[in-house]
Amino acid sequence: MKMILLGPPGAGKGTQAQFVTEHFGIPQISTGDMLREAIKEGTALGVKVKKIVSSGALVPDDIIIALVKERISQDDCESGFLFDGFPRTIPQAQAIDDAEICLDLVIEIAVSDVEIVTRLSGRRVHKSSGRTYHVLHNPPQKAGLDNETGEELIQREDDQEETVRNRLDIYHQQTKPLLQFYQQLNERSGLPKLYQVDGLGHLSEVQERILDALESSD
Ligand code: AP5
Ligand code: MG
Repeated sequence: MKMILLGPPGAGKGTQAQFVTEHFGIPQISTGDMLREAIKEGTALGVKVKKIVSSGALVPDDIIIALVKERISQDDCESGFLFDGFPRTIPQAQAIDDAEICLDLVIEIAVSDVEIVTRLSGRRVHKSSGRTYHVLHNPPQKAGLDNETGEELIQREDDQEETVRNRLDIYHQQTKPLLQFYQQLNERSGLPKLYQVDGLGHLSEVQERILDALESSD
């Protein structure tokens, strides 16, 4: 199974990816998590992208494409993977298609812009694992602390309201057109299958909708 979770920032891609990857036993490939890890480690890549990521702008396509190609060449991706936050531009999607990587499924998680701003202001993250919580909708067992390690949770630098609005604009301009790209690819080759699920409601309801989409794609 090779699939994409598509949707605006804060749609719940990372949250739902955790369950999908467990369900299928495939790795989650989150370019956002990979970039944040590089920034934390202070690698050459991290130094290069730090300012871009904290401003909410997109990292150049050539950097992202190289990062993903290297990642999917690893052994654990042999039976598939889930892309979370990638592709985000037409050139990124085209690069995957040009590499003859055939995607089975694209699931779009749809959430309105107003809801996104509220969600992201309440998001808390465990920095080293990427585990995600929400102060109201998905709180940790102990306020401010990760359930598994007990370490402090942080707020992402790009979750400031103005930066979130910038990320949303970029999503509408550069990432939304991917839906049409994959629609056209589907018309030509029958794949990938496309589903839109409503991202509003409890986490478990959204999970149910994704499961339904996965089952009907079999
Ligand atoms: P990235 O990390 O991919 O950020 P994003 O796409 O903006 O998505 P988020 O991680 O903010 O949202 P999510 O959909 O994963 O939501 P989550 O599950 O956390 O990218 C960060 C940056 O890296 C980019 O801005 C860019 O600079 C760079 N980058 C990354 N990939 C790139 C690429 N391909 N090309 C170029 N640049 C790239 O949920 C959000 C919150 O809502 C959480 O608190 C969660 O608990 C809560 N929540 C989830 N579901 C629900 C629900 N049903 N009801 C209520 N609350 C919910
Ligand atoms: Mg995420």
